[in-house]
Amino acid sequence: MDDFLSTAQVAATAGVHRDTLLRWLREGRVREPARDGRGWRAFTRTEAEAIAAHASDTSALVQQPTTISRLEAADWDLASATTSYLTHNIHPYPAKFIPQIPNMLIQELSSVGDTVADVFCGSGTTLLEALQLKRHAIGVDANPLATLISRAKTTPLAASALEALAEHRFSAERLAASIEPNAADLFSQGLPFKSRAWRPAADVCETWFEPHVVEELAELRRLVDDVPNDTARTLCAVAFASIIVAVSLQDSDTRYVRRKKQIAPGGAVRKYLRQLQAAAAAAEKLADVVEARFSCNVVTANVLDAPELPPFDLVVTSPPYPNAFSYHLYHRTRLLWLGLDPAPFKAIEIGSHRKYSAKGPRRATVATFATELQAIFRWLRTQMRHRGHVCFVVGDSTLAGQRVDNTSLVADAGADHGFVEHARIGRSIAATRKALNPKIGGIKTEQIVILQKA
Ligand SMILES: C[S@@+](CC[C@H](N)C(=O)[O-])C[C@H]1O[C@@H](n2cnc3c(N)ncnc32)[C@H](O)[C@@H]1O
Repeated sequence: MDDFLSTAQVAATAGVHRDTLLRWLREGRVREPARDGRGWRAFTRTEAEAIAAHASDTSALVQQPTTISRLEAADWDLASATTSYLTHNIHPYPAKFIPQIPNMLIQELSSVGDTVADVFCGSGTTLLEALQLKRHAIGVDANPLATLISRAKTTPLAASALEALAEHRFSAERLAASIEPNAADLFSQGLPFKSRAWRPAADVCETWFEPHVVEELAELRRLVDDVPNDTARTLCAVAFASIIVAVSLQDSDTRYVRRKKQIAPGGAVRKYLRQLQAAAAAAEKLADVVEARFSCNVVTANVLDAPELPPFDLVVTSPPYPNAFSYHLYHRTRLLWLGLDPAPFKAIEIGSHRKYSAKGPRRATVATFATELQAIFRWLRTQMRHRGHVCFVVGDSTLAGQRVDNTSLVADAGADHGFVEHARIGRSIAATRKALNPKIGGIKTEQIVILQKA
């Protein structure tokens, strides 16, 4: 029997995951071996060699059309897709994925146990989908708010976290109750409810917040800081960050201008409690779908620094489009309230509207984005496992009135670093999805570019 090899041994020799080999057997791409006395597959040396040859043969790339044509035939507009399940909605994020997009790509282009990365993970949509499909997940983003949300979104709550959350909620409810009777005094001198807790610099508070909201936020933040459990504290910090724009004078998540809003005394604390309740309920359900054996590693880093990470089997990502957003600006007040400095992120943010609309020689151009894509694919070449797929979801930009074909820029940079293009699948962006800065470009479609390390 020593002359026979098991499925796991043959897969290891061929350098593929066991599930990939099982799929090849199911699809008839490689021959089924005979079974041993226990009913298990017993491969002969010759069969194992044929499978290894299949794995290294470029014909495996030629076989790709079955998967690719399935992907091409799918409905990617997803106009009526439910997007708010599990923890996907614990915090808003501009231009975030419809979860079904990474879900469909992960199912078709990876196997259970593989590692799926999103190198611009934003709020962690790909990471959560990868985990619930039983893959390991790795997320990279330069925005510290993005990585905070991604961690909260992908970490199930253990009993100790639930206990810490319950205690924290009790303290926040007491805070809400203490504001009600004092509401009339909140604006006067010697406020009974004047928090001594930390708050951002005075100019930030005065420009963007009503005075009583500053007091409530400072007090809430102190309570969040006091949460003794890491997972619970991260979830509370995300719930806290999620209310900042709504209780501030900032017009909206994607408009950094002042607008007067009526926030009643106690309004910020009550809003926080509602957000926290929803986030905790969503995170509690994670334990049923995310198994502890699948890891999620979220890193705050600049992709242009080529961070050293474990190898990826699949990348599903949506890069920042040139000129579409300035994440550092839209997230400024949230970052400041979390005690995080937006400046380092601002300096390295790719695509930032600020950089593309700057005056003079420092203004970013198409060439800037093309050079950045070269660096990203040079890094991905070293990060990707053999034959791993890279999927970029990207739309055009408008720079100085000219349409820029970002899809071709991505595909060209991939080709320069040995990635074969398999498909460009177009999808419409629903009018109701305020994913893009409406002032810039009127972009209504995007492409899913599927490349493979050859
Ligand atoms: C289109 S968003 C990704 C949204 C994500 N797909 C989601 O579902 O939430 C692009 C992301 O790129 C990040 N980013 C911009 N410049 C970066 C850099 N130099 N390194 C890493 N991430 C960067 C931004 O912070 C932003 O989160």
